[in-house]
Amino acid sequence: MEIALQQYLKHIKEITTSMLKVAESSDLQVIFDYIAEIAKDLVGAKYAALGIPDGKGTLKYFKTAGMTEEQIAMLEHYPKGHGLLGAIISERHNIRLDDLAKDHRSVGFPANHPPMEKFLGVPIQIGAQLFGMLYLCDRVDGNPFDESDELLIESLGSFAALVLVSAEVTTQHNRIHMLEERERIGMELHDGIIQSLYGIGMQVELLRLANQATPSELSPIVDSLNNVIEDIRRYILQLRQGNGNVSSVQEQLEWIVARLNVPEKLKVTIDASHKKPPFDNLVFESLSLIVSEAISNAVRHSQASRIEVFAHTVEKEFLIRIIDNGDGFDMNHLSEHPQGGLGLKNMAQRARLYGGELSIYSQIGKGTTLTVRVPIKYKI
Ligand SMILES: Nc1ncnc2c1ncn2[C@@H]1O[C@H](COP(=O)(O)OP(=O)(O)OP(=O)(O)O)[C@@H](O)[C@H]1O
Ligand SMILES: [Mg+2]
Repeated sequence: MEIALQQYLKHIKEITTSMLKVAESSDLQVIFDYIAEIAKDLVGAKYAALGIPDGKGTLKYFKTAGMTEEQIAMLEHYPKGHGLLGAIISERHNIRLDDLAKDHRSVGFPANHPPMEKFLGVPIQIGAQLFGMLYLCDRVDGNPFDESDELLIESLGSFAALVLVSAEVTTQHNRIHMLEERERIGMELHDGIIQSLYGIGMQVELLRLANQATPSELSPIVDSLNNVIEDIRRYILQLRQGNGNVSSVQEQLEWIVARLNVPEKLKVTIDASHKKPPFDNLVFESLSLIVSEAISNAVRHSQASRIEVFAHTVEKEFLIRIIDNGDGFDMNHLSEHPQGGLGLKNMAQRARLYGGELSIYSQIGKGTTLTVRVPIKYKI
């Protein structure tokens, strides 16, 4: 018994080492392949397979180890999960047989299948949730599978269940991250680049109304287009580089306002921190686009004569406030605009993306105040 125990512990060590290796991959196909291979080596079987159920009683995946490419290619079809393979799915307990053909659940092999006799099948499950099935056929030494083979494969199954759960979580996590990225890029395009293009459109419209365009009138349009190109280039660069050198909050906001082509009669004042922003470059860049959209809303919709921008760290929050003295609007009727804009929604979402929030206060005839608060501990 002592020797058996030592052997068992040695195998458990093998299982943990190899499964930790498996867990490094986030590619489910690779993980499936490894698990079948490890099972085969662990009990010295000729053949092993990992089946993944499709939730309807049959198999979604079937990964084999021990069969050659040629043998697989010759098979009439892959196992579908009937017979013994399916019995594990429905019965949810181990099946160990010295001659599988004699079992009443057996449905025989598809044409051209190599002969197999001894069988061990074990469900991979946590509680009532079935993740897969491990199937083994025929030991290399010709002996039938014994109790300790069963125990080892069961242990491997538990590890495999954990690895599969964690791979699933990683996949979900990556998906969420990807959605966040897409969201962010979409907002970036709307607030930054689309707004710049909108400005160019306005200039072209003015020329059209004046019914003529001279070179001196065209050159600001060319400049604006160059700005858009520069925006895109800078944005791509930032995506690649992450953190670069950032000037102060004040300078960065001044730069944004300069780029917006605010009409001269509209006075914009900026009261912002002279320190570097308390965020990663990309986060601050993204937050400053809230300012950009807010100012462009005020220019387009409010008839304001003054806009004040405030951006400072207050306690543990970064606070951005944009106040205009324009027409204001009725916040209760916003959702009634059928082609309702994306700007305000984007701003709110952008603030939330960094753990903060946006609040809007507007009253008809009394101007609009937008406040964004973002906790400064946030890092990406
Ligand atoms: N500062 C403001 N002053 C007056 N009205 C505003 C102001 N900001 C927003 N609004 C009103 O709220 C509406 C929604 O703004 P939002 O930015 O979401 O969309 P939009 O500017 O119309 O379109 P988009 O931003 O997608 O180009 C505006 O159409 C406008 O009626
Ligand atoms: Mg807008």
